[in-house]
Amino acid sequence: MADKTLSDPVFSGDWASYYEKTGQRPPRATLIRALDSFDREERPDNALAADLGCGSGRDTIEILRRGWPVHAVDASRDAIDGLLARPDLPKNAHIDTQLARYEDMSLPQCDLINAAFSLPLCPPDAFPGVWRKVHDALRESGRFSGQLYGDRDSWAGREGMTFHDALEIDALLAGFEVEYLEEKEEDSVTPRGTPKHWHIFHIVAKKT
Ligand SMILES: C[S@@+](CC[C@H](N)C(=O)[O-])C[C@H]1O[C@@H](n2cnc3c(N)ncnc32)[C@H](O)[C@@H]1O
Repeated sequence: MADKTLSDPVFSGDWASYYEKTGQRPPRATLIRALDSFDREERPDNALAADLGCGSGRDTIEILRRGWPVHAVDASRDAIDGLLARPDLPKNAHIDTQLARYEDMSLPQCDLINAAFSLPLCPPDAFPGVWRKVHDALRESGRFSGQLYGDRDSWAGREGMTFHDALEIDALLAGFEVEYLEEKEEDSVTPRGTPKHWHIFHIVAKKT
């Protein structure tokens, strides 16, 4: 029997319908936590955020709305085009975009790096280098917000994707003060309605 999950954009690369279904959804809770933490502190001079795997911009728009300049990265031209065409893109938004895979991207120095449900979409042999780029691009006291996939996720083992167990997550977060870490497992569906076991680590961490 054909594996229905293979029609999911994660495997087919057809992100257009994903963007259509999710683009207007509210920003991710992890992003809101990170932005709220910055709001409680003095925002650094020349603050800059990056949104990795920005998709059609549900998080990018919120970062811009809060007055941050954003460097948005995605490997899909549909994502970047869709983001720049959004009617709710704030006027005079400070946004620049990079059409690139994480493996090839170069990142400016940032105070916030957001990667919502996006960084695991790179092969395991490339992930350490990508995570190193994220770590190195964050200024001291900068924050990472986003999700990583757990090893009990039903997609674990799929080619081109990276999964971590709890100990590996702890190791990745060495060098950060962990402000929020929630490991969540549930049986639910993908945005396309395909049943899936989700095993997700929701993270907000501050570089020390
Ligand atoms: C599941 S979507 C998440 C989009 C958005 N962050 C959100 O929360 O709705 C993953 C995004 O990552 C992008 N992506 C997947 N693999 C990538 C890679 N290796 N490098 C850069 N972008 C990638 C896809 O094009 C897609 O827009």
